[in-house]
Amino acid sequence: MPSKGRNEMNVHETYGKSFRGTAAENYQRYFVPAIAAPVADDLIATAALRTGERVLDVACGTGVVVRLAAERVGASGSVTGLDLNPGMLAVARSATPTDMSIDWQEANAESMPFADHAFDVVLCQMGLQFVPGKLAALREMRRVLTEDGRAIIVVPGPKPPLFAIMIDAIARHIGPEAATFGELVFSMHDVDELRELMRSAGFRDVDARALPKILRLPPPADFLWQYICSTPLSDIVLRTDDAVRTALEQDVCAQWQEFVQDGYLTFEVGMTSATGRK
Ligand SMILES: C[S@@+](CC[C@H](N)C(=O)[O-])C[C@H]1O[C@@H](n2cnc3c(N)ncnc32)[C@H](O)[C@@H]1O
Repeated sequence: MPSKGRNEMNVHETYGKSFRGTAAENYQRYFVPAIAAPVADDLIATAALRTGERVLDVACGTGVVVRLAAERVGASGSVTGLDLNPGMLAVARSATPTDMSIDWQEANAESMPFADHAFDVVLCQMGLQFVPGKLAALREMRRVLTEDGRAIIVVPGPKPPLFAIMIDAIARHIGPEAATFGELVFSMHDVDELRELMRSAGFRDVDARALPKILRLPPPADFLWQYICSTPLSDIVLRTDDAVRTALEQDVCAQWQEFVQDGYLTFEVGMTSATGRK
């Protein structure tokens, strides 16, 4: 989840790679094709959207789910993307074809600016774990659904060893804030916890299950810097000097060799997926 604060990034020729732009731009450029888009394909398949449906995507980020949903519901349907972060929404707008009419809303998932019964489907991919008031957000998702509306939530975890290696190394080489972020990203994968939370919010027919996903990522050094520059970790890591970053890269890439297949990082990440009806 890119932070709002950081904007321009330096160019890191040291690593033979150039990272420019905001964390939100790098999220769309690197994180989306490597991770968010393959996960979104599964979410959209589960949602089984129909032509004409009104869809809300909560914590939409740069809009990968929004655009897939808009293709499914067609011109007779509608799609709204809600996110707290204006930087993510700005990239979402610019990444969306001009003939795709999307309602982008900057708002908190815990208090949504929509009337009751406004949507047939609510989606939320890899966002709920960041929301402090999870029950409030789920109650809001239920409130804005029609009487027979449905919600589909996807959250990542448990923390895969590949990410544990990177987070531990950043914490050791640079500072403990990295561990806090790493814990938060994978903090909400417990199937029973998500099922109970959805039931507590009033959803019925709740079905929560673990659906692990195999991801093929870029080669180690590329993915390391792409991930850092797409997330709030950039705030911590990019303020250090070249020697620290070189040591970090060597450490992580050495440990990641066990995940390399044909030059690419390949690993399984847990995904917890839950569906429920109003
Ligand atoms: C990892 S990104 C996921 C974005 C998108 N769903 C995807 O799969 O690419 C998490 C998003 O949650 C958003 N977010 C975090 N807390 C939020 C809140 N309380 N209300 C709305 N959005 C929130 C962040 O701004 C960020 O865009």
